[in-house]
Amino acid sequence: MAVRSKVKRIGILTGGGDCPGLNAVIRGVTKPAQDFGMSVLGIIDGFEGLVEGRSKELSNEDVSGILARGGTILGSSNKGDPFHWPVQKDGKIEIVDKSQEALRNYEAWNLDALIAIGGDGTMHICKKLGAMGMNMIGVPKTIDNDLEATDLTFGHDSAVYVVSEALDRLHTTASSHHRVIVVEVMGRYAGWIALNGGLAGGADIILIPEIPFSWDKVYEKVRQRELQGKKFSLVAVAEGAKPADGHMVVKGEDIKRHDPIQLGGIGEVVAANIEKYAERETRVTVLGHLQRGGSPTPFDRILSTKFGYYAIELASQRKFGRMVALKGSDVKNVRIEDAIARQKLVQMNTQALVTAKAIGISFGEPNEKIISQR
Ligand code: F6P
Repeated sequence: MAVRSKVKRIGILTGGGDCPGLNAVIRGVTKPAQDFGMSVLGIIDGFEGLVEGRSKELSNEDVSGILARGGTILGSSNKGDPFHWPVQKDGKIEIVDKSQEALRNYEAWNLDALIAIGGDGTMHICKKLGAMGMNMIGVPKTIDNDLEATDLTFGHDSAVYVVSEALDRLHTTASSHHRVIVVEVMGRYAGWIALNGGLAGGADIILIPEIPFSWDKVYEKVRQRELQGKKFSLVAVAEGAKPADGHMVVKGEDIKRHDPIQLGGIGEVVAANIEKYAERETRVTVLGHLQRGGSPTPFDRILSTKFGYYAIELASQRKFGRMVALKGSDVKNVRIEDAIARQKLVQMNTQALVTAKAIGISFGEPNEKIISQR
């Protein structure tokens, strides 16, 4: 592969599930590109487009007016891992390695660097493509906020906003009808959306994957509130939450994906059990992809724009194999391999968790003392 000392041409792609703020990053990369003497090639549908050779030139006009638009103008896919590429053979799906095709296209497009915006799965792919000689720069996104190396990923704040607004709305109807309302939110292995959304929206019970819950404590909290004259309760449950004596509720499996498990359904289970064992009328709302769609919050627009600009600066300095990261209030960079070493999970000393407990929110912990006066 020919190595140019000056970076003149960069590729950009969005991988994995979409989230609000992706377009703001693409804009943050493309608008300043001219000043760096660079052209930008947008790769269509994430790594799928890299393998299949689908791309389009990006100009200032292409990124004008997309700051507030959700989704991604480039398209994305969570099934296009070049190292785990599904092909249909004899009615069955076989997994093959297409990374050489990805490398061939990178070279054919004359790229000096590739900026990949994505979550954990995307960063794993970046690391492997980097080892093949591609100059990779990662930009972290995920509504789940589960990347250890960055204090925050963009998209999370927008998802929390949706959860908080939903809880506000459900609060009024739950209290009018003296019901329990269970809200199922995203969050596979990390409970950040449930924790932060639940805290913002005034949930009474928050169930997260990191704290396997006791059914009895959930029922006790609902009854306890009633003894205090509060005849309704709001429960925020992460899709990956599970009871201490049970399992995550898996809706399906898709071997074409980096993480094949499709979650969903715990909200229904929690609601049915509260109705049956706590004997309270209960309803469930599943927020699903509402949390991923739509316009980014102002916080996410700013963070995404900073991430985009920082990524192109890194490219101009030939700092490859790095992922953009928020540390405190500053945007910095970390090695991609360090970024994927661990998932960021809610810890017992996480300030939001400690605070939530202190104000009387129950996490259904088996040893929890249900606080009556709050
Ligand atoms: O990883 C982000 C995420 O939002 C998870 O919380 C959720 O399980 C998953 O995406 C859903 O993915 P899909 O769009 O494929 O259903």
